[in-house]
Order: sequence, then C-alpha cells, then structure tokens
Amino acid sequence: MDKVNLVSGMRSTGKLHFGHYMGVLTNWVNLQEEYNCFYFVADWHALTTKFNKTETLKQDKIDVVLDWLACGLDPDKSTIYIQSKVLQIAELHILLSMITPNNWVERDPTLKDMVKILKNKDNISDNNVQMSYGLLGYPVLMSADIMAMNAAIVPVGIDQLAHLEITRDIARRFNNIYKTDLFNEPKPKLTQIPLLLGVDGQKMGKSFNNDIKISDDETTTSKKIMQCITDRSRARKDDLGHPDKCEVAFKYYQAFADEETVKEVEEECKLGKRGCADCKRQLGCIVNNKFAPIRQKRMEYQQDIDKVYDIINTGNKKATCEAEKTLAKVRDAVNI
Ligand code: TRP
Ligand code: SF4
Repeated sequence: MDKVNLVSGMRSTGKLHFGHYMGVLTNWVNLQEEYNCFYFVADWHALTTKFNKTETLKQDKIDVVLDWLACGLDPDKSTIYIQSKVLQIAELHILLSMITPNNWVERDPTLKDMVKILKNKDNISDNNVQMSYGLLGYPVLMSADIMAMNAAIVPVGIDQLAHLEITRDIARRFNNIYKTDLFNEPKPKLTQIPLLLGVDGQKMGKSFNNDIKISDDETTTSKKIMQCITDRSRARKDDLGHPDKCEVAFKYYQAFADEETVKEVEEECKLGKRGCADCKRQLGCIVNNKFAPIRQKRMEYQQDIDKVYDIINTGNKKATCEAEKTLAKVRDAVNI
C-alpha cells in the first residue's frame, strides 16, 4: 500500500538552532520511514511579517535546507522544496480564501499572538505592523500548503494547532460545498520532545540572542554553553546542588548526554562534588561531539552547493507534480 502523505514546513528564518533540532528535526527525520514526507521552506509565510526585510531571504532559505540535510533529511526519501516554487499552492490559496468565513481567521489566537509580538518588537506606531491582508490569510495559506499535497498528517508544535484546526474546518467545508470527498481532514502529529530553553532559561530564539545554532563552531558552542543557567541557589563548588533546579545546563545533559553520564552528573551535583563551571565544560564537549558529524555534513553540502540546488529543484518538481494532481481535481470540483 502507498504511504500516506505528510506535510510540514518552516518559515525561512535562517540558520536553525538546537531547539529546532530537538523539537522538530529529529522528529521529521524519523517520520521519513513511515510516511511520504513533503518538507518545505515557507518563504511566502515569511513575507507575511517580513515583507519589508527581504535582503537575506534567499540566503536564509538555503541555510534552512542546509541544516535540514545536515540533520538527516534524506532527499531520496522526502520531497524537499520551496513553497513559492509550487504555484499550485497560490492557486489553491485563492480558491480556499473564497470559502473561508472572515471570522474563522479573525479569531485565530495564534495570529493574534503574532501581531502582539510584532507590535512589541517594532515601533507600535509603524503602519507596517498592522495586520495585513496577507497575514490575516496566514492559516488559509497554511491550509493550501497542506491540502495541495492532500496530506493526512501534519507534524507541528502546539503553537500551530489553532491554524491546523482552521485547515480541518476549511477541508470539511470544501467537501461539503462542492459535494466531494476529495480532501482529507489532516491530523496534527504533536512533537513529543519538550522544547529546549535558551541558555538564559527563556524560550530559545534567534531574536533573544540565547540560542545555539546547529551550524555554530565548537568554540562558539562551548562559550554559549558556559552561559547556561544552573542551580541559582548554589554559590560554591562544594554546596550541595539540585539538578532538578538547574534550569538549563542539566536539561541539556538530559537532551544530549547518555543515561549513564546524566546519572553521574546528578549524583555528583547532589553531593557537592561537581562545580558548575567544570560541569558545563564537560557539557560543551558532549554537545560538540554530538554535533560534529552534523556540522561535517553541513560543511560538505556547503562546499558542493550545486548539489543542494539540484536537490531543491528536484523537490520543487516533485511537489509541483503532486500539487497539480490535487488541483486538477479541485478545479473540476469547483467548475472553474
Ligand atoms: N506556520 C508554520 C510555523 O511557523 C510553518 C508552516 C507553514 C507550516 N505552512 C505549514 C507547518 C504547513 C506545517 C504545515 O512553524
Ligand atoms: Fe547544574 Fe551541573 Fe551545576 Fe549541578 S553541577 S547545578 S547539574 S551545572
């Protein structure tokens, strides 16, 4: 039997960090075996908020794909492509926009949050920060991404669930209006692994300057690891430590070290036999070892960038083909 289609995307934000790796990419890599995976860079979605900051957009897209390939997305198993190269998605977006009631998108809580964040980051009086027609359509465009491949499964984080609920509503409404069973109602597949925090204990993010990039070199990584928050109640090396209150460093151990090491660190910390600086120095080595092969692979792709363009071009073609299959049926159902 054919594998079920799965779609997921990331906005083209540039180089990815550890949070992406643990929260999303390891998941995507594993899903490749079970599903027919379509993974794309959402450059149109990037424009919904960054339409006036496009200087780095091209490079950002390549950086995202380089990180994906380095982390183990396999172009022989998955279709890797750029959203804006699949014009059928735009066509479907228009058709879906016709059947989407305004209040469905207006009450999307995730969109409201996005606008709030934008307003905090930029100047509130800046007109560019207002909700644009394109940004309002964010969940409709996302629906088009998913429905163009008629995906049944969409791996996302909880922050995307509200959008996906709208997708399900739109798919159902399309089927009802045009009396068809063309579209699946795509189900979310939540990532199991808890999100990693930034070195300062806040949400990890590029704009908070607390992230460690997959592509950072060893020295940078070690330096950033030394900034990790530890057990704040601990002043001296021989104070008894509390790994459960070690907000970042111990969490990273749990994410990146083997079980035996985690146990050892936990015991030594509790007994006051381990200083935080030494502990983080060791953590830096563990993390660098873990990422060494990934960084090596990224470097190889970077040095053979034509191969990366080939992979993307092939993916664009495959995705276009799949979307065209769907759109032929859609046009037929709509009588357009
Ligand atoms: N909105 C998603 C995010 O910010 C990215 C995205 C766009 C997406 N289209 C999608 C995710 C379709 C899954 C399916 O993370
Ligand atoms: Fe955290 Fe290690 Fe310090 Fe214990 S010794 S508080 S685990 S950094």
